[in-house]
Amino acid sequence: LFYFGMTTTITAETKVLETELQQLENAFSLSQETKERFIAEFVSEMQAGLETERCSKSLRMLPSYVTQRPTGNEQGTCMSFDLGGTNLRICLFELLGARTYRIVRQAKYIIPESAKTATLFEWIASCIEEFSLLGGSADSLFGVPCGFSFSFPFAQTALNEGRLLSWTKGFNMPGVVGQDVVALTQQALNNRNLNVRITAMVNDTVSMAVSCGYLCPGGQIGAIVGTGNNGCYWEETRNITKLQPSSTCSPSSPTEMVINIEWGAFDYTRSILPFTSYDAQLHAASISPGMQVLEKMISGMYLGELVRYILLYLVDRNLLFSGSVPPNLAVRDSIDTKHISSIIADSSPNKLAVRAVLLELYNVQNPTACDLDAVARVCNLVCTRAKILCALSISAVLLKRPTILSAPLAVGVDGSLYGKMHGFQDTVRDVVDSFLAPNNHNISLHFIPDGSVLGTAIIALKQSIAP
Ligand code: GLC
Repeated sequence: LFYFGMTTTITAETKVLETELQQLENAFSLSQETKERFIAEFVSEMQAGLETERCSKSLRMLPSYVTQRPTGNEQGTCMSFDLGGTNLRICLFELLGARTYRIVRQAKYIIPESAKTATLFEWIASCIEEFSLLGGSADSLFGVPCGFSFSFPFAQTALNEGRLLSWTKGFNMPGVVGQDVVALTQQALNNRNLNVRITAMVNDTVSMAVSCGYLCPGGQIGAIVGTGNNGCYWEETRNITKLQPSSTCSPSSPTEMVINIEWGAFDYTRSILPFTSYDAQLHAASISPGMQVLEKMISGMYLGELVRYILLYLVDRNLLFSGSVPPNLAVRDSIDTKHISSIIADSSPNKLAVRAVLLELYNVQNPTACDLDAVARVCNLVCTRAKILCALSISAVLLKRPTILSAPLAVGVDGSLYGKMHGFQDTVRDVVDSFLAPNNHNISLHFIPDGSVLGTAIIALKQSIAP
């Protein structure tokens, strides 16, 4: 009797769980109509951003002052440092021409919380000092063209300056918005008597576009899908009407410029994106509620929290882990994209990876088959939405310039999600194909792991030899 009673209870709960999971899958999915609206609105926002200065609640379309495409034949020694969302990466390159390069030396430093909120520039300078000492002396980088990949929105009027417009990705150092970040960093380097001069600062996506152009013919778009998410593309300067008239009109003016879209800010009004109650929780707990709506659905900094909020909801409804919250599940950021990736890659019948993650993170000893299945489905629905939204953004940027679609073109992407998350590259490929097929069959997507540093070093080198 007892056994019979248990079975009945489990079956009823299983049905409720199934209904909940289906509702979640619906809430996180995008209809064909929504996808089409996304693309149409994205393209029209891009156009509006080329015409007037816009705020952080729309696509900012920031001119990068990168106007020369790489040929692939550049040669020489150059360096760059990339302040991403999680690490500072410093690289010394030797460009060998023929679309090849060699990393002479590199180092990666995890950005401490104290740097994100207080001592950023001193910390960067200390890392560069350490890096130069790896070359034998504090002077080992003397004369090497040096570029800065600054992966935040900033406004420029030249390549070697940039005023921070707003912090994103959990950074919040006071007193920097509105300041020239090149000057602040250069000052910190000078304070240490380091012989390093920053000659160019670009967004990490802009670096990607240039890396892509150096490595592949037809490079048009650069994108990052890591801690943050954003993209850029080559635009004709005559279309960047907010730059008119002086900078783009004379016969000697450049004809093209890379534009940093800052697409993480798309759909501030949430009229298109499938914004769920879990997204609302994520925003409420973040340091920038209501901002970067698209980025918070795609990038690595946020996916773990979305998964965690949904799991907590299911436990609360008594549908998971017998209704008892594993203590660590209540802890912010306790699951990250590395774990989620291993869960969604797990096709084993016994869901061994899901089991391993639950044990490692939450000390769940004996998950039921239903628990395992539910956790896997939650991770999948959050990640599938992220992959599709990222793919739609890339598709929209390609469709913004229909005239270039007839020739072969290349998209360069870097970032841990794009590189490592199961199925990310395949989904982007499929979605791009489905929207671009009528126009172009010759779009190649490239994962370029050094992209956010390489392009910046190339730009610094070109800048140092410019007439
Ligand atoms: C954030 C930043 C953006 C950067 C992206 C990827 O969206 O605002 O500038 O390109 O992260 O790092």
